[in-house]
Amino acid sequence: MTYDFRIAAADTPTLYRDLASAIEGLISGETDAVANMANVSALIFETLPDVNWVGFYRNVGGELVLGPFQGRPACIRIKFGDGVCGVAAQTRQVQRVEDVNAFPGHIACDSASASEIVIPLIRDDELIGVLDIDSPNKGRFTEEDEAGCVRLGEILQRGL
Ligand code: SME
Repeated sequence: MTYDFRIAAADTPTLYRDLASAIEGLISGETDAVANMANVSALIFETLPDVNWVGFYRNVGGELVLGPFQGRPACIRIKFGDGVCGVAAQTRQVQRVEDVNAFPGHIACDSASASEIVIPLIRDDELIGVLDIDSPNKGRFTEEDEAGCVRLGEILQRGL
């Protein structure tokens, strides 16, 4: 098996469609969640333009704990309700934030981050964790990005 996924697409929906099928291929047949989160964060990081942090926070006993990621070292524990990730975990709603500096309680791990999208991952009504993607560009994540990331989340919450 080759791990050389090079995805270049003309438009955002196609990019996410190709990314979704690459992720399905990457995690199918592997049950180790850490290995899968590590590979998936690497693949998303190298595929999406203009991102500076991609990774997972896991629900460990009702608190978010840092999981595999790509980017600068990040804060390790986030309480539900705190920051963008904590709000996504508490509300179980996607958080798409145009300007993180305008988000009350935003936790700045990398001062370069300007916008962010966080996807809650839910299986059997349990919050497994969240997928967090940060960008150095304000307003980086569009509605098309949100739809694409939700699709990635659907694959991840089944496969992790
Ligand atoms: N910005 C996040 C914290 C995690 S880092 O961006 C990696 C937040 O406010 O939830």
